[in-house]
Amino acid sequence: MERRDFVSNIGMTLALACVGGLAACSKGGGGYDSSPDPTPGGPNAKLSVNLGSDLPNPGDFKIANGVILIRTGTGKTAADFAALSSTCTHQGCTVATFNNTTKLIECNAPCGHGSRYSTSGAVNTGPATAPLTAYTITVSGNTLTVT
Ligand code: FES
Repeated sequence: MERRDFVSNIGMTLALACVGGLAACSKGGGGYDSSPDPTPGGPNAKLSVNLGSDLPNPGDFKIANGVILIRTGTGKTAADFAALSSTCTHQGCTVATFNNTTKLIECNAPCGHGSRYSTSGAVNTGPATAPLTAYTITVSGNTLTVT
């Protein structure tokens, strides 16, 4: 290899390493990537909903990603919602529904055994004896995020 070819190859290698390094820094590390975060509510969000279209009425609920999110009020603040683990503390079934008449979360057949929880997560009716884990709710504009 001629000296000129060697120097040319080194230059190309360094240029590729720099481009690779910039690409590696373009997500989450450099701060100069202006593309929107692909996960609404951020990467730590368990669940995110659009309050302009989702859960419009008190009593509406959504079960997803290990969370039961219930609209308990008419406003658009965190206090108008309850976010709890959807995993029943009895034997780990996913709770089935929110009963807007009784205001209780129900863990029903075929998997569940009839436990009931209030919107705070407290046990209303066993066999479960431990409460559902409560999660944090934040509201920013029309986006509600559970973390
Ligand atoms: S798993 Fe929910 S009541 Fe048994």
